[in-house]
Amino acid sequence: MIFDTHAHYDDEAFDGDRDELLRSLPEHGIEAAVNVGASMESTERTLKLTEEYPFLYGAVGVHPNETGSLTEGDMERLKEFCSRPKVVAVGEIGLDYYWDEPERDIQKKWFVRQLELAREVGLPVIIHSRDAAKDTLDIIKGARGEEIGGVIHCFSYGVEMAREYLDMGFFIGIGGVLTFNNGRKLKEVAAYAPLEQIVLETDCPYLSPVPNRGKRNSSLNLPYVVETLAQIKGVTKEEIEIQTCRNARRLYRLEER
Ligand code: NI
Repeated sequence: MIFDTHAHYDDEAFDGDRDELLRSLPEHGIEAAVNVGASMESTERTLKLTEEYPFLYGAVGVHPNETGSLTEGDMERLKEFCSRPKVVAVGEIGLDYYWDEPERDIQKKWFVRQLELAREVGLPVIIHSRDAAKDTLDIIKGARGEEIGGVIHCFSYGVEMAREYLDMGFFIGIGGVLTFNNGRKLKEVAAYAPLEQIVLETDCPYLSPVPNRGKRNSSLNLPYVVETLAQIKGVTKEEIEIQTCRNARRLYRLEER
């Protein structure tokens, strides 16, 4: 069985067949998935989905590029959402200097604020970091991130940066990019990181693995990532599935619930 630690099934890309697709996941070997909020609106859609599907969990939070109009009132609402029974993380939160908006100081402010929220409510974090390696690490260290815990989703940096997060006990989120011809850097990270600290993710509808690159992604494509990771690690696909499921349950503290 496979655990998809990062999906966006509330995205409009799934409007045509969402229910049919979600219902089909368990029979295709998908044990569970975490739907991740990226704005206040998608966080609310996430909560609704987790109520409808027993195998879906939720993360509540606001993506760096969506922080422009956030208020303290939104933080109060997020805090209330964190007490819902199927909410397992605060995310996705972080810094994105690729799109670079709103201005960096605003992204940083709400990143720090949502890290504080995670500490307050005792949930792990899902970190989004793009072209912002140094600032992300500085902020997480400043917030004593090793006490909060979580996953660096869609990991896009090199081995040196991976070591920093692995040493703090974070998980590395790996998805379709692992199968790309230009995915050499991520393959190095996957080879370096202990299998006990790797989790699988789609970030669907984005980042479909080869051979479906460019098409709409879903958890059904994760076997391609499992296969590539098994080759890199020199273990069987079954071992990858068993260990990454175990990791995902540890990341989201599902056994403690
Ligand atoms: Ni995402």
